[in-house]
Amino acid sequence: SGVAAIVPAAGSGLRLGAGVPKAFVDLGGRPMVLRAVDGLLESDVVGSVVVVVPSSEVTAAASLFPGRPVTVVPGGADRTASVAAGLRELASDVDVVLVHDAARPLTPPEVVRRVVAAVRSGLPAVIPVLPVVDTVKRVDAGGVVTATVDRSALRAVQTPQGFRASDLVRAYAGVTGALTDDAGLVEALGEDVHTVAGDPVAFKVTTAWDLRIAELLLAGAPV
Ligand code: C5P
Repeated sequence: SGVAAIVPAAGSGLRLGAGVPKAFVDLGGRPMVLRAVDGLLESDVVGSVVVVVPSSEVTAAASLFPGRPVTVVPGGADRTASVAAGLRELASDVDVVLVHDAARPLTPPEVVRRVVAAVRSGLPAVIPVLPVVDTVKRVDAGGVVTATVDRSALRAVQTPQGFRASDLVRAYAGVTGALTDDAGLVEALGEDVHTVAGDPVAFKVTTAWDLRIAELLLAGAPV
């Protein structure tokens, strides 16, 4: 039995505008994807990691993870295709799978441990979440408000998301189209998706602003 993580890192990073694929952008001396991988391994509950990169980066990425139990494979056109490529690399003795964005480089190991412990306790799918602090409204195509959503029932979803390996493999076997979230597939199978506490520090680096925040956090007191 074992825990493996898939780290989709094959995005182009257009919204970040760094000129290199987002996962390879330097953050305080280490590329984001290396920070994401090391956060997983520092949890001491993850045995192996499959990193999924743009096909042009496979050779370069293979040397990024010296001394770590990492396999690098080429990804696909969208995140869903990249995760599917990672799933195909899983060893047969893996019973818990995490899927973790390379773009969440500061994710604390405690979050990883919470997710794995919850899956180990027998839950099929577990996601880290945060309460939504802003008021959220639904708008029409013209930007006019059509509804105010009850934010007390909403959660913002982070990664790593954790799954019973057999369930995630089954969910991906029937996948069509691109999704932003792996747990959604398991929901579609009719399985309960449970939540554990996320952490603000596990935020996703999407824009140049996010990268600046990540640099400031690293430069300041430990987070
Ligand atoms: O685009 P977004 O920030 O939502 O991407 C989330 C994660 O999915 C990132 O780590 C990105 O590298 C990854 N991704 C991927 N393959 C794609 C698109 C995104 O692995 N084709």
